[in-house]
Amino acid sequence: MFFKKISLKNFRNYTELELEPHAKINVFVGHNAQGKTNLLESLYILSSSKSFRIKDESELIRWDCNFTEIDSWLQSDDCFDKRISIRWLQEGRSLERKIFKDDSPLKRVKDLLPEVPLTLFVPGDLALIQAGPIMRRRFLDVLLCKISREYCDNLYNYQKVLHQRNKFLHLYVRGTDREVSLENKHRDILDVLNEQLVDFGSRVILERLKILETLQNIIAEFYNYLSADEIELNLSYICKFPKNALNKEEAGEISYLKKVFAESLEKNYRQDLYNKSTQVGPHRDDFLIKAKDYDLRLFASQGQQRSLALAMRLAEAKIMSLQFGEEAIILLDDCLSELDENRSNLLLKYLLSLGQVFLTTTQFSMDNFYGNDNFVFFNVDSGRINRL
Ligand SMILES: Nc1ncnc2c1ncn2[C@@H]1O[C@H](COP(=O)(O)OP(=O)(O)O)[C@@H](O)[C@H]1O
Ligand SMILES: [Mg+2]
Repeated sequence: MFFKKISLKNFRNYTELELEPHAKINVFVGHNAQGKTNLLESLYILSSSKSFRIKDESELIRWDCNFTEIDSWLQSDDCFDKRISIRWLQEGRSLERKIFKDDSPLKRVKDLLPEVPLTLFVPGDLALIQAGPIMRRRFLDVLLCKISREYCDNLYNYQKVLHQRNKFLHLYVRGTDREVSLENKHRDILDVLNEQLVDFGSRVILERLKILETLQNIIAEFYNYLSADEIELNLSYICKFPKNALNKEEAGEISYLKKVFAESLEKNYRQDLYNKSTQVGPHRDDFLIKAKDYDLRLFASQGQQRSLALAMRLAEAKIMSLQFGEEAIILLDDCLSELDENRSNLLLKYLLSLGQVFLTTTQFSMDNFYGNDNFVFFNVDSGRINRL
């Protein structure tokens, strides 16, 4: 799938933009603070409804304006066209957002998720490797939500029950320190909540385990290509279940996961009462990235970690392409500045074999690509984009 046309109105530093990108590689060159990341942000929002950098969506509206609009025309690989647009209207303190597909409103955000297969790499993605588990969990959840409606529902329901359970513990746990307890009638309610938590949570874990297995090989393939290396990557899921519980063959079965999850909740019962929150479950899980037996968070150089993060994003695109049966769109924000020349050239060569790419950079030597029909260059300057 690729963007045939994009139109922005009052989006960040763009007053009005009309862009007809190339179906292959689009390179956006410009100094700092000209609107390169803003453009990628608008495309990312079309695929997920959310920005990757802010929570307060009113910041997307150009200063001194009261509305913004992102409009796009996409063509799928089988030549089927569609139009996706999102509008925000600010009235006083209230901000209204509307999402449209071919002029009909989409009621729920989850209806938008499967519409545009798209992945984004930003320099901050180094945190996928270096930071705590939140980023890695989000990586799995965002990818799985895009490719599976069922996962999206299970995750949503899990988070809802988790919230109810924590609130319940806050309200009804009696006593302090080690003397904490629940009255019997409340213990019965907790059992019901546990059952629901285990049901949705085990389904979430099962899908994460499956996708990790697929991701492991694809990430290794990209990483080894980018770094001309031959490492064997191992992605292993980490949770607070008893040690080795997930190494067993039965870990691929929902009934087994439910059993282990329920036992772990039971084991953590006193701890949960004490903390008035839930200590085990997919909301606390993580995954480890190892090469042989080395944890790459600790042992890889910054450059290797960056290549690994990039490989994770390219793997995300590949999985979407496999699932949707068509090429995913790839957004790469400022990724060349951090790669050496050799790696940059390898990456550009590789991108040629993928779908539509939007790549931003502050400097780019076009010499190697001049006359190559697969590349189009644009200059970005103060919220205006011109083809070079
Ligand atoms: N809501 C907004 N209205 C107007 N300008 C904005 C808004 N949000 C951000 N900007 C401007 O956009 C510019 C940053 O654009 P960005 O795309 O991040 O730059 P870069 O080209 O370095 O990637 C800054 O000059 C910032 O002031
Ligand atoms: Mg930028």
